[in-house]
Amino acid sequence: MTSIDRRALRGEIVSFDDDPRASERALRHFADGLVVIEDGRVAAVGEAAALLAALPPATPLEDHRGCFLLPGFIDLHVHYAQTDIIASHGEGLLGWLERYTFAAESRFGDAQLARDTARFFLDELLKNGTTSAAVFATVHPQSAEAIFTAAEARRMRLAAGKVLMDRNCPQFLRDTAQSGYEQSKALIARWHGRGRLSYAVTPRFAPTSSEAQLEAAGALLREHPGVLLQTHVAESREEVAWVRELFPSSRSYLDVYDRFGLLASPAVLAHGIWLDDADRARLAQCGAAIAFCPTSNLFVGSGLFPYAKCHAAGVRVGLATDVGGGTSFSMLRTMHEAYKVAQLLGEPFGALDGFYLATLGAARSLGKADAIGALAPGREADLVVLDPAATPLMARRNARAETLEERLFALMMLGDERAVAATYVLGETAWRRSTAALNESS
Ligand code: GUN
Ligand code: ZN
Repeated sequence: MTSIDRRALRGEIVSFDDDPRASERALRHFADGLVVIEDGRVAAVGEAAALLAALPPATPLEDHRGCFLLPGFIDLHVHYAQTDIIASHGEGLLGWLERYTFAAESRFGDAQLARDTARFFLDELLKNGTTSAAVFATVHPQSAEAIFTAAEARRMRLAAGKVLMDRNCPQFLRDTAQSGYEQSKALIARWHGRGRLSYAVTPRFAPTSSEAQLEAAGALLREHPGVLLQTHVAESREEVAWVRELFPSSRSYLDVYDRFGLLASPAVLAHGIWLDDADRARLAQCGAAIAFCPTSNLFVGSGLFPYAKCHAAGVRVGLATDVGGGTSFSMLRTMHEAYKVAQLLGEPFGALDGFYLATLGAARSLGKADAIGALAPGREADLVVLDPAATPLMARRNARAETLEERLFALMMLGDERAVAATYVLGETAWRRSTAALNESS
């Protein structure tokens, strides 16, 4: 019999079994809790006193009392090739794409640059407590190769895909319907379902794909059930008007994707600010999800995502950074900006909404809630340890908070990567504050 690799983490456990807006019993909270991990999976979660008594002697135990233990964050939409152009000043969406994004992405034909950037990017996610993500590469297949290779070395659960774009972008960034199809197919064969990795068919957005390319994307999805679809939809008003001109026979921007069979679940569409009620009803019906990217939406000036409307319509939603349109890799900062977006819309958005959307909400959006997004027996043991007293100011504010929600709210409003005390991937330390990232050179 082989021996079990068992270890335990002690701290204040916060995890969701359901959407806190849907169920009063959604939150699983243990003020002094223990997570028991066996062979990289959660074996038990509960009160420390009870579980410690049952723990085999000599089980390694890491004591994080004073900190929260949560499932690792999931960034539902992010562009690794835009890491170096984060915070590029002052354009609306289409100008920003032309001026900064396409130039930055053109460099990813260089496999060495792609590998270096992929490693830096994933270490940045781990520092921020993010253990899973849905990632856009660039049009170059070697850029997808690089992000998958780096994710495999870190054992992270990641979906990624090479971008499809064959029109309305610089010539040097174009594939064709045929080459994009073939390159995607080869990448699916090589990476989809390998370890914790999955492939995402990735048409950039409707304006940069011909009808033939959107057909090819639909064919890839039909031929490979379980492969994710990721794209952008209805981010800015200017973009929506352009899509209306390019696809005059479609009822709406969302309908363009629907007509080509791209909305079967799992699908993640970034933004969705300018959808209408019929679009939201359709998303709810087909199970496709929206990635809510507040730092990006505010930075690019795209608009205020109506979370309450999407929620009421039954649309799946998760939170996402959308770096480089987004301005931080921190999911705490992302929650913080989501709160401010809701404030501007006059809607409530609590700490439980924020933490749910960055964990189980995003896992459900990816169709991976059986594996990640919660601390529950059988799930993969990806965790983030958050220190609510990471800075002197946070310590003072935390000391004044009376309820769990108040403490979580202060953490989400004041926290960033400084609050990430440790990150675990499959039960093993992937990041620890005050030491270097363990994987930096892999
Ligand atoms: N729409 C099409 N491409 C992009 C992109 O790279 N970033 C954002 N934010 N929106 C897009
Ligand atoms: Zn994006």
